[in-house]
Amino acid sequence: MKVQVVFYSMYGHVYRLAEAVAAGAREVAGAEVALYQVPELVPEEVLQKSGAKQARAAFAHVPVLKPEQLAEADAILFGTPTRFGNMCAQMRNFLDQTGGLWVRGSLVGKVGSVFASTGTQHGGQETTITSFHTTLLHLGFIIVGVPYSEQRLTNMNEITGGTPYGATTLAGADGRSRQPSENELAIAHFQGKHVAEIARKLSR
Ligand SMILES: Cc1cc2nc3c(=O)[nH]c(=O)nc-3n(C[C@H](O)[C@H](O)[C@H](O)COP(=O)(O)O)c2cc1C
Repeated sequence: MKVQVVFYSMYGHVYRLAEAVAAGAREVAGAEVALYQVPELVPEEVLQKSGAKQARAAFAHVPVLKPEQLAEADAILFGTPTRFGNMCAQMRNFLDQTGGLWVRGSLVGKVGSVFASTGTQHGGQETTITSFHTTLLHLGFIIVGVPYSEQRLTNMNEITGGTPYGATTLAGADGRSRQPSENELAIAHFQGKHVAEIARKLSR
Protein backbone atom coordinates (compact mmCIF):
# COMPACT_ATOMS: atom_id res chain seq x y z
CA MET A 1 0.00 0.00 0.00
CA LYS A 2 1.64 3.23 -1.17
CA VAL A 3 1.08 6.54 0.59
CA GLN A 4 2.41 9.79 -0.87
CA VAL A 5 2.68 13.02 1.14
CA VAL A 6 2.90 15.83 -1.42
CA PHE A 7 3.45 19.40 -0.29
CA TYR A 8 4.58 22.91 -1.13
CA SER A 9 6.11 25.04 1.60
CA MET A 10 7.73 28.46 1.48
CA TYR A 11 8.92 28.95 5.07
CA GLY A 12 8.81 25.35 6.32
CA HIS A 13 5.51 25.18 8.21
CA VAL A 14 3.75 22.86 5.76
CA TYR A 15 6.96 20.82 5.55
CA ARG A 16 6.87 20.29 9.35
CA LEU A 17 3.24 19.17 9.11
CA ALA A 18 4.13 16.91 6.16
CA GLU A 19 6.80 15.17 8.23
CA ALA A 20 4.31 14.57 11.05
CA VAL A 21 1.71 13.29 8.57
CA ALA A 22 4.28 10.91 7.05
CA ALA A 23 5.34 9.65 10.50
CA GLY A 24 1.70 8.88 11.31
CA ALA A 25 1.19 7.00 8.04
CA ARG A 26 4.37 4.97 8.66
CA GLU A 27 2.83 3.55 11.83
CA VAL A 28 0.35 1.57 9.74
CA ALA A 29 1.58 -1.93 8.89
CA GLY A 30 2.18 -2.40 5.18
CA ALA A 31 2.29 1.33 4.40
CA GLU A 32 5.13 2.43 2.13
CA VAL A 33 5.30 6.18 2.72
CA ALA A 34 7.12 8.72 0.53
CA LEU A 35 7.45 12.47 0.99
CA TYR A 36 7.50 14.73 -2.09
CA GLN A 37 7.36 18.42 -2.89
CA VAL A 38 5.90 20.12 -5.94
CA PRO A 39 8.03 22.44 -8.13
CA GLU A 40 8.75 26.03 -7.10
CA LEU A 41 7.49 28.82 -9.36
CA VAL A 42 8.79 31.91 -7.57
CA PRO A 43 11.93 33.48 -9.13
CA GLU A 44 15.22 32.94 -7.24
CA GLU A 45 15.78 36.62 -6.51
CA VAL A 46 12.33 36.97 -4.94
CA LEU A 47 12.94 33.91 -2.74
CA GLN A 48 16.30 35.37 -1.75
CA LYS A 49 14.84 38.75 -0.76
CA SER A 50 12.00 37.28 1.29
CA GLY A 51 14.21 34.86 3.25
CA ALA A 52 12.37 31.90 1.73
CA LYS A 53 15.47 30.62 -0.03
CA GLN A 54 17.18 29.97 3.29
CA ALA A 55 14.05 28.41 4.80
CA ARG A 56 13.56 26.14 1.79
CA ALA A 57 17.13 24.80 2.12
CA ALA A 58 15.91 22.73 5.12
CA PHE A 59 13.85 20.51 2.82
CA ALA A 60 15.81 20.79 -0.45
CA HIS A 61 16.54 17.04 -0.10
CA VAL A 62 12.84 16.15 -0.55
CA PRO A 63 12.35 14.94 -4.14
CA VAL A 64 10.13 16.86 -6.55
CA LEU A 65 7.14 14.84 -7.75
CA LYS A 66 6.00 14.59 -11.36
CA PRO A 67 2.20 14.72 -11.77
CA GLU A 68 2.03 11.29 -13.45
CA GLN A 69 3.66 9.70 -10.36
CA LEU A 70 0.42 10.34 -8.44
CA ALA A 71 -1.03 7.30 -10.23
CA GLU A 72 1.35 5.01 -8.29
CA ALA A 73 -0.20 5.80 -4.88
CA ASP A 74 -3.15 4.29 -3.03
CA ALA A 75 -3.50 7.35 -0.80
CA ILE A 76 -2.22 10.91 -1.18
CA LEU A 77 -2.03 13.60 1.49
CA PHE A 78 -1.56 17.08 0.04
CA GLY A 79 -0.14 19.99 2.04
CA THR A 80 -0.35 23.65 1.09
CA PRO A 81 0.08 27.09 2.66
CA THR A 82 -2.90 29.37 2.13
CA ARG A 83 -2.81 32.13 -0.43
CA PHE A 84 -5.79 34.46 -0.01
CA GLY A 85 -7.86 31.60 1.45
CA ASN A 86 -6.98 29.11 -1.29
CA MET A 87 -4.19 26.66 -2.10
CA CYS A 88 -0.88 28.15 -3.30
CA ALA A 89 -0.11 28.62 -7.01
CA GLN A 90 2.64 26.01 -6.94
CA MET A 91 0.14 23.32 -5.88
CA ARG A 92 -2.51 24.66 -8.27
CA ASN A 93 -0.02 24.52 -11.15
CA PHE A 94 0.93 20.96 -10.21
CA LEU A 95 -2.71 19.83 -10.09
CA ASP A 96 -3.44 21.60 -13.37
CA GLN A 97 -1.04 19.15 -14.99
CA THR A 98 -3.18 16.14 -14.00
CA GLY A 99 -5.48 16.47 -17.04
CA GLY A 100 -4.13 13.26 -18.55
CA LEU A 101 -4.66 11.38 -15.30
CA TRP A 102 -8.21 12.79 -15.16
CA VAL A 103 -8.97 11.67 -18.73
CA ARG A 104 -7.77 8.14 -17.98
CA GLY A 105 -9.47 8.01 -14.56
CA SER A 106 -6.10 7.12 -13.05
CA LEU A 107 -6.81 8.68 -9.65
CA VAL A 108 -10.39 7.42 -9.25
CA GLY A 109 -10.94 5.61 -5.94
CA LYS A 110 -7.70 6.73 -4.30
CA VAL A 111 -7.84 8.23 -0.82
CA GLY A 112 -7.17 11.99 -0.79
CA SER A 113 -6.63 14.25 2.19
CA VAL A 114 -5.44 17.83 2.68
CA PHE A 115 -3.54 19.74 5.37
CA ALA A 116 -2.68 23.43 5.39
CA SER A 117 -1.02 26.42 6.99
CA THR A 118 -2.26 29.99 7.33
CA GLY A 119 -0.67 33.10 8.77
CA THR A 120 -3.61 34.04 10.96
CA GLN A 121 -6.34 32.21 12.89
CA HIS A 122 -9.17 33.11 10.54
CA GLY A 123 -7.16 33.62 7.38
CA GLY A 124 -8.52 30.62 5.50
CA GLN A 125 -7.78 27.40 7.38
CA GLU A 126 -11.06 25.77 6.40
CA THR A 127 -11.52 27.39 2.98
CA THR A 128 -8.04 26.38 1.84
CA ILE A 129 -8.79 22.73 2.60
CA THR A 130 -12.41 22.53 1.49
CA SER A 131 -11.77 24.39 -1.78
CA PHE A 132 -8.87 21.95 -2.41
CA HIS A 133 -11.38 19.10 -1.96
CA THR A 134 -13.29 20.30 -5.05
CA THR A 135 -10.30 19.44 -7.27
CA LEU A 136 -9.81 16.09 -5.55
CA LEU A 137 -13.48 15.21 -6.11
CA HIS A 138 -13.18 16.02 -9.83
CA LEU A 139 -10.24 13.63 -9.99
CA GLY A 140 -12.26 10.90 -8.24
CA PHE A 141 -10.57 10.84 -4.84
CA ILE A 142 -12.35 9.55 -1.75
CA ILE A 143 -11.90 12.46 0.67
CA VAL A 144 -10.78 11.82 4.23
CA GLY A 145 -10.39 14.46 6.96
CA VAL A 146 -9.72 14.33 10.69
CA PRO A 147 -12.65 12.96 12.72
CA TYR A 148 -13.31 14.25 16.26
CA SER A 149 -12.04 10.94 17.64
CA GLU A 150 -8.84 13.05 17.50
CA GLN A 151 -9.75 14.97 20.64
CA ARG A 152 -6.99 17.54 20.18
CA LEU A 153 -9.39 19.22 17.73
CA THR A 154 -11.38 20.43 20.74
CA ASN A 155 -8.39 21.93 22.59
CA MET A 156 -9.44 25.39 23.80
CA ASN A 157 -6.51 25.91 26.18
CA GLU A 158 -4.30 27.58 23.61
CA ILE A 159 -4.37 29.09 20.15
CA THR A 160 -4.14 26.11 17.85
CA GLY A 161 -4.76 24.97 14.31
CA GLY A 162 -6.51 21.69 13.55
CA THR A 163 -9.82 21.22 11.75
CA PRO A 164 -12.09 18.27 10.98
CA TYR A 165 -11.23 18.88 7.31
CA GLY A 166 -7.51 18.41 7.85
CA ALA A 167 -4.57 19.35 10.07
CA THR A 168 -3.47 22.98 10.07
CA THR A 169 -0.93 25.28 11.65
CA LEU A 170 -0.67 29.02 12.15
CA ALA A 171 2.52 30.66 10.91
CA GLY A 172 1.92 34.07 12.51
CA ALA A 173 0.68 37.38 11.13
CA ASP A 174 4.00 37.90 9.30
CA GLY A 175 3.48 34.53 7.61
CA ARG A 176 6.49 32.82 9.17
CA SER A 177 7.51 33.52 12.80
CA ARG A 178 5.26 31.12 14.75
CA GLN A 179 6.20 27.43 14.53
CA PRO A 180 3.78 24.46 14.47
CA SER A 181 2.74 23.56 18.02
CA GLU A 182 2.76 20.11 19.61
CA ASN A 183 -1.03 20.01 19.37
CA GLU A 184 -0.96 20.79 15.66
CA LEU A 185 1.78 18.28 14.89
CA ALA A 186 -0.10 15.58 16.82
CA ILE A 187 -3.23 16.23 14.76
CA ALA A 188 -1.15 15.99 11.57
CA HIS A 189 0.30 12.70 12.81
CA PHE A 190 -3.23 11.45 13.48
CA GLN A 191 -4.31 12.45 9.96
CA GLY A 192 -1.47 10.50 8.32
CA LYS A 193 -2.25 7.39 10.35
CA HIS A 194 -6.01 7.68 9.80
CA VAL A 195 -5.63 8.05 6.02
CA ALA A 196 -3.23 5.09 5.80
CA GLU A 197 -5.58 2.94 7.89
CA ILE A 198 -8.48 3.72 5.55
CA ALA A 199 -6.34 3.07 2.47
CA ARG A 200 -5.33 -0.27 3.95
CA LYS A 201 -8.99 -1.23 4.51
CA LEU A 202 -9.84 -0.25 0.93
CA SER A 203 -6.92 -2.17 -0.55
CA ARG A 204 -7.94 -5.49 1.08
C1 LIG B 1 0.70 35.90 -1.36
C2 LIG B 1 0.39 35.40 0.02
C3 LIG B 1 -0.93 35.30 0.41
C4 LIG B 1 -1.24 34.86 1.68
N1 LIG B 1 -2.57 34.78 2.05
C5 LIG B 1 -2.88 34.45 3.31
C6 LIG B 1 -4.25 34.41 3.71
O1 LIG B 1 -5.18 34.61 2.94
N2 LIG B 1 -4.49 34.13 5.01
C7 LIG B 1 -3.52 33.87 5.92
O2 LIG B 1 -3.81 33.63 7.08
N3 LIG B 1 -2.21 33.84 5.55
C8 LIG B 1 -1.88 34.12 4.27
N4 LIG B 1 -0.56 34.09 3.88
C9 LIG B 1 0.47 33.59 4.82
C10 LIG B 1 0.89 32.16 4.44
O3 LIG B 1 -0.21 31.30 4.40
C11 LIG B 1 1.96 31.63 5.40
O4 LIG B 1 3.16 32.32 5.11
C12 LIG B 1 2.13 30.12 5.26
O5 LIG B 1 1.02 29.45 5.76
C13 LIG B 1 3.37 29.59 5.93
O6 LIG B 1 3.52 28.24 5.55
P1 LIG B 1 4.89 27.76 4.84
O7 LIG B 1 5.99 28.10 5.78
O8 LIG B 1 4.75 26.27 4.73
O9 LIG B 1 5.00 28.40 3.50
C14 LIG B 1 -0.22 34.52 2.60
C15 LIG B 1 1.12 34.60 2.18
C16 LIG B 1 1.42 35.03 0.90
C17 LIG B 1 2.86 35.11 0.48
